[in-house]
Amino acid sequence: MPKLTVKDLDVRGQRVFVRVDFNVPMEEKDGQMVVTDVTRIKETLPTLDMLVKGGAKIILAAHLGRPKGKKEPTMSLRPVAAKLAEMLKCPVNFVEDCIGESVAKAAAALQPGQVLLLENVRFYAEEEANNPAFAEKMAQVADIYVNDAFGSAHRAHASTEGIARFVAKRGGKCAAGLLMERELKFLGDELEKPARPFVVILGGAKVSDKITVIDRLLDKADTILIGGAMAYTFRLAQGAKTGKSLVEADKTDTAKAALAKAKAKNVKFLLPTDDIVATPVKTDKLDKKGKPIIDWQNPTTNTDLNCPDEMAGLDIGPATVKAYSAEIASAKTILWNGPMGLFENKQFAAGTNAVAKAVADATVKGAKSIIGGGDSVKALNKAGLGGQVTFMSTGGGASLEFLEGKELPGVAALSDKGTCCCCAH
Ligand code: 3PG
Ligand code: MG
Repeated sequence: MPKLTVKDLDVRGQRVFVRVDFNVPMEEKDGQMVVTDVTRIKETLPTLDMLVKGGAKIILAAHLGRPKGKKEPTMSLRPVAAKLAEMLKCPVNFVEDCIGESVAKAAAALQPGQVLLLENVRFYAEEEANNPAFAEKMAQVADIYVNDAFGSAHRAHASTEGIARFVAKRGGKCAAGLLMERELKFLGDELEKPARPFVVILGGAKVSDKITVIDRLLDKADTILIGGAMAYTFRLAQGAKTGKSLVEADKTDTAKAALAKAKAKNVKFLLPTDDIVATPVKTDKLDKKGKPIIDWQNPTTNTDLNCPDEMAGLDIGPATVKAYSAEIASAKTILWNGPMGLFENKQFAAGTNAVAKAVADATVKGAKSIIGGGDSVKALNKAGLGGQVTFMSTGGGASLEFLEGKELPGVAALSDKGTCCCCAH
């Protein structure tokens, strides 16, 4: 059943508690944390503008990073308040907590159209535990609850799920924000009856991460194009040698089942026919996450379906790019999730960039292109093509779970349109 949205509400003078996904990338510069990508903030502006103009008293809650229940100064949302004020072109007050006295006071001081941002809800372990007492405390300042945090809607946490229960119990409404509504429209309704041909491009490291999505899309797509390291698990399933490529040897049966389903359903299921391979050489250096940095030597185009023993496959090759681009060019609907290779390394970015370009070109010619968040969005933005597709999701994990057909807890907790007793919705 469709969910109530912020457009269905009269918010004037009401305290509207809005869960947003301001989990934005930050970097330390001159001793201060600064936001390095404002996409998620920008995408919530339509909802916030609407609430400001509607005269709501706006209380924003969000998480940042994974502080695991501790106050972690580098994960404070204070710098986000400043960025938001700049973008919303109005002052944004900030309070160093998300429950209790200080929040109650700041919320009580709000005038219609004013905005308050609360501190990182994950500074409390109760947030991720979806602790009812904590959710109830948060709900104390909410007459209405709005969830615009699509990127966090797959989490059943206190600020995404628990709080809605308490607001609803008191007779308050729980509605989707405009971003949430848009995400559900593009990743959901628009893919229900897609204009055909419907071409799905799936990449990324693991078959196990994508198998549920593959299985579901095999019921809908005309063509599925596979890239990224997960292609090697399919190759292994077909009896090819995969050298040092990333594979999931225990997932070959899963890969075989997908190939068999594609055949039975008459879905064109394409795997790379050539790739870029390189020899991994360990260095003593560590990356930001503490993992050893590998030096990829001697990158070469490999036209054999077998990967040389001492090498790993890291990108799709030029023949595959040509074949995939032709499929994309003929599409009327495109869904893309996951890069074609190790695109963060420019030696292995050509395949992903070419797919990004093909998707943007097809969009200009009238195809609807939907990008399922995470790395594909990063890759499109890196290629400067972010603005040239129909829709880019702000959710990584959330979009994947939604495409898998799972009910997202943050959406499930919202009021159904049909059950609203006080208006025509
Ligand atoms: C995200 O960026 O994936 C969302 O904000 C959710 O964050 P999480 O993965 O830490 O729960
Ligand atoms: Mg995540």
